[in-house]
Amino acid sequence: MSNSAEGSSLKNIISHCKEYGFIYPSSEIYDGLGAIYDYGPNGSELKNNIKAYWWQAMVRVHDNIVGIDTAIFMHPTTWKASGHGEAFNDPLIDNKDSKKRYRADVLIEEYTAGIQKKIDKEVAKAAKKFGNSFDKEQFVTTNPRVAGYMKKMKEIEDRLGDALGSGDLSAVKTLIEELAIADPVSGSKNWTDVRQFNLMFSTELGSLAEGAEKIYLRPETAQGIFVNYLNVQKTSRMRPPFGIAQIGKAFRNEIIARQFIFRMREFEQMEMQFFVRPGSEREWYQRWKEKRINWHQSLGLGAEHYCFHDHINPAHYANAACDIEFNFPMGFKELEGIHSRTDFDLKAHEKYSGKKLQFFDQASGESYVPYVIETSLGLDRMFLAVISAAYTEEKLDNGSERTVLKIPPPLASYKAAILPLVNKDGLPEKAEHILNEIRFDFSVQYDAKDAIGRRYRRQDAIGTPYCITVDHQTLDDNTVTLRERDSMEQERIPAEQLASTLHEKVDMKYLLKSL
Ligand code: GAP
Repeated sequence: MSNSAEGSSLKNIISHCKEYGFIYPSSEIYDGLGAIYDYGPNGSELKNNIKAYWWQAMVRVHDNIVGIDTAIFMHPTTWKASGHGEAFNDPLIDNKDSKKRYRADVLIEEYTAGIQKKIDKEVAKAAKKFGNSFDKEQFVTTNPRVAGYMKKMKEIEDRLGDALGSGDLSAVKTLIEELAIADPVSGSKNWTDVRQFNLMFSTELGSLAEGAEKIYLRPETAQGIFVNYLNVQKTSRMRPPFGIAQIGKAFRNEIIARQFIFRMREFEQMEMQFFVRPGSEREWYQRWKEKRINWHQSLGLGAEHYCFHDHINPAHYANAACDIEFNFPMGFKELEGIHSRTDFDLKAHEKYSGKKLQFFDQASGESYVPYVIETSLGLDRMFLAVISAAYTEEKLDNGSERTVLKIPPPLASYKAAILPLVNKDGLPEKAEHILNEIRFDFSVQYDAKDAIGRRYRRQDAIGTPYCITVDHQTLDDNTVTLRERDSMEQERIPAEQLASTLHEKVDMKYLLKSL
């Protein structure tokens, strides 16, 4: 796909989300607010279903995981202990001519992505030339041009990793200069020095006159879990290995906030901290990598859309980390992070609070600070993954076109729509009767306006997996037609079998059982 095609597909998704009540720019009547979005009626239903699937897969399915809901504001010392006060920074650079501001590491990563594209092009050319006998592994290691590209990429990544790891910002600038990276907008290479910018939003607790205290909007939900470790462990009578899950808002003053809901300043995270005995963290890290990729793939968005990306330079709190990347319209990008966070956070909170945050193992008679494996998924990014994989523009056999959201049925905003064929002859009353029978099992929409074809298209556009049409025959034999969204095939079934038929097709419990 060319860049412009990628761009236009994200553009189409953004306008579809707005037109069909999924996502609006926040405070749009005042021209919006950068990288902040509101979810509309269909969007909040879909978002709630994604949350429910994550929560149930974590909390309901595991005896040893419990959920909590902690406050956005936390004691300011939390961020000293967690390292966010000191280390939660992005390296920024300004272009002196265009006055545009960039993340220095992103400029370099975009440069290496350009090299990767050249490699992919060479591989595609060779695959075409050699056909079935093509061995990609052998080609990339032996072809001199590709090997050169790979070597260059590795050198750049290593230098960037070292510079960021040691906080050597002048080395980052040198790298930008040596690679002759230009401002993508103006083409100018006239850069300022690289400097750090803290991403936390601050505000004040109490009134100024009384001596207000500076506090922060949490940049991750994880710290609410860490500071409650002991409360939860004791009140839930948990022993490692056990987990604490949470869904909640997080805030980051992102400098480059673009690409719709991929990078927002206010967003939601679904995080789980899994507390384990020191020494067992590597094994649990592997297990959680497997569990999380299974969860994603259970949704059927296409296994080829996911890959793991191991971090060369894990965050300040981790000894191993990877991302699950998803093939968004802008290419493969981070969807979820899985981190082996060691005992960094609990130890730091012990130090700053003076409270012991340990587990006493009665069997061995020893106390220890548990190690932690974290799984951290952005809810909004998950929403974008679902909607971008689901968004389909189709040309139909009869020459007409439709836009359909092929959302996994258990996540769809509405499971079915009830449509009286005409808005008279007793059909609306019959349809409403059926609606009232099944509305306590599923979220169902009723729609009696416009021709039936237009109503089908409307439901396709919001991803409703089934349309139930009530026609004159329904009045005679109490059967309805059930139309399936993706195939558009229809079958006639007795109205009394609707609930059981739909359950089999849309109930989240079948997804959960498949995990
Ligand atoms: N507690 C660990 C943590 O917060 P992270 O990699 O910074 O790790 C975890 O964030 C996940 O949160 C990301 O994989 C992404 O899905 C989501 N996320 C992070 N920043 C985001 C942003 N600005 N907008 C939307 N989602 C974001």
